[in-house]
Amino acid sequence: MTEPLIIGAMVRTLGAYPSGWRQPGAHRDPAADAAILRHIAREGEDAGLDYLFFGDWLATGPDLEFRDPYLLARIDPVSAVLFLAGVTSRIGLIATVNTTYADPYTTARSLASLDVLTGGRAGVNLVTGAEPRAAGNHGRDAHADNETRYDRAEEFVEALRRLWDSWDEDAWIADAARGVLIDPQGLRAADLQGSQVRVTGPLNVARPPQGQIPIVHAGTSPRSRALAATEADLALTAAPTLADAIATRRLLRDIAAEAGRSPDAVKVIAPVLPVVADTDADARRIVERLLALVPLAEGHQAARTAFPPNRTVAALADAFDVAADDPLRTAAFDRPVTAAEAVRLGERGAALIERLAGIAGLRVSESGSASGDPLTWRHLVAANAVPAAFVVGDARTIADHFETWRDEGAADGFNVLSAFQPAQFEAFTRHAAPELRRRGLLRDAAEGEGETLRDRLRISSYVDA
Ligand SMILES: Cc1cc2nc3c(=O)[nH]c(=O)nc-3n(C[C@H](O)[C@H](O)[C@H](O)COP(=O)(O)O)c2cc1C
Repeated sequence: MTEPLIIGAMVRTLGAYPSGWRQPGAHRDPAADAAILRHIAREGEDAGLDYLFFGDWLATGPDLEFRDPYLLARIDPVSAVLFLAGVTSRIGLIATVNTTYADPYTTARSLASLDVLTGGRAGVNLVTGAEPRAAGNHGRDAHADNETRYDRAEEFVEALRRLWDSWDEDAWIADAARGVLIDPQGLRAADLQGSQVRVTGPLNVARPPQGQIPIVHAGTSPRSRALAATEADLALTAAPTLADAIATRRLLRDIAAEAGRSPDAVKVIAPVLPVVADTDADARRIVERLLALVPLAEGHQAARTAFPPNRTVAALADAFDVAADDPLRTAAFDRPVTAAEAVRLGERGAALIERLAGIAGLRVSESGSASGDPLTWRHLVAANAVPAAFVVGDARTIADHFETWRDEGAADGFNVLSAFQPAQFEAFTRHAAPELRRRGLLRDAAEGEGETLRDRLRISSYVDA
């Protein structure tokens, strides 16, 4: 019997697809996040998921309404995991921290506190951030460049490790009869004097039950790959295809091995956006609705400043190198794409059209007036402008995807995104999760009581490479 996959939920209460909040019954009020977060946490824990994961973004603005509405207003990740600590008992809780702006001592302290309060269920995702507006929110003139950010991130990790190691396991004596509370020899300073991070320590929180709290890293640049491969327990990747994912995982494992670390020490986690329904056809209809409701440059949207520039037929035509005088550039969004026009979109157009047949059941008609579900320019523009790791179908189709990626060496696990809440997360936990469990890809829901996140993720103890 092979080991189960690592499967966690990447929680975005407004839904992970930009038109998710517009679906019937979808959660759409971030001021009411408490109830939906509680619901998602219980649902995920009951389904046997390994962790709840919260990303972070250190700024907001009206442009996000169209690009990533879930980023507009949400609970900060450390607050979210602390809130959920009290309503869960087994599931891991991973919060994102931005190393460019966060203070390492404060981060070590709040994560150690979460670990103590949850009996060892804390994890931290370290990112260096890609949002330039974050600088203005933190008193900086500009967002630091990639090299500077990763120099700091590396020192940040070192600071966390030293601070979490402040107390020896047996330093807390609490011998009431003798009046001896601690062994002062077991309390260690951090004494890190880096170029960007300086911290003395020790940490004023008890030793975390996990000792070293699992570290996750998400990024795409070469420096990010190096940090993930040498320091992280979980590496979050964003490979769009199976072939890319296999190559990325291999690269991370190779870098780990070169650094003297076991390649198995870094678990590679791929994002997936399952759209789950009772039948493949029903699931495709949900994707069609999601695509149809993506805001495009029309009506009141077009008048908004900072509207994403790629939401027009002309922008799609540019992306696919269509001739400048081709009349398809002015096609109305709701007109079906004709076979002749599809040819003029070239190879990349053909690939997108094939993908839309698979995920949304949409097809190009010979005449341009197809019966059934015709592919329109709206669908094409939306799918091109808002790519997503869609996997669409019934429980078996979803489980087949997870199994294939595991068998092909593309991923050690998945971060499950839900297009809208709570219906699509419930569809995953109630339909797909039992099928995954039946195949041995997901742990039994009842397992894991009293286990730490480190145990759940089967992370070997931290070895300094
Ligand atoms: C799967 C995944 C999840 C990410 N989540 C976040 C996040 O929650 N917050 C954030 O600021 N950046 C996040 N990032 C962005 C990275 O921090 C990174 O800045 C971006 O991918 C650019 O890569 P680089 O930093 O290696 O140049 C994520 C990236 C990936 C691949």
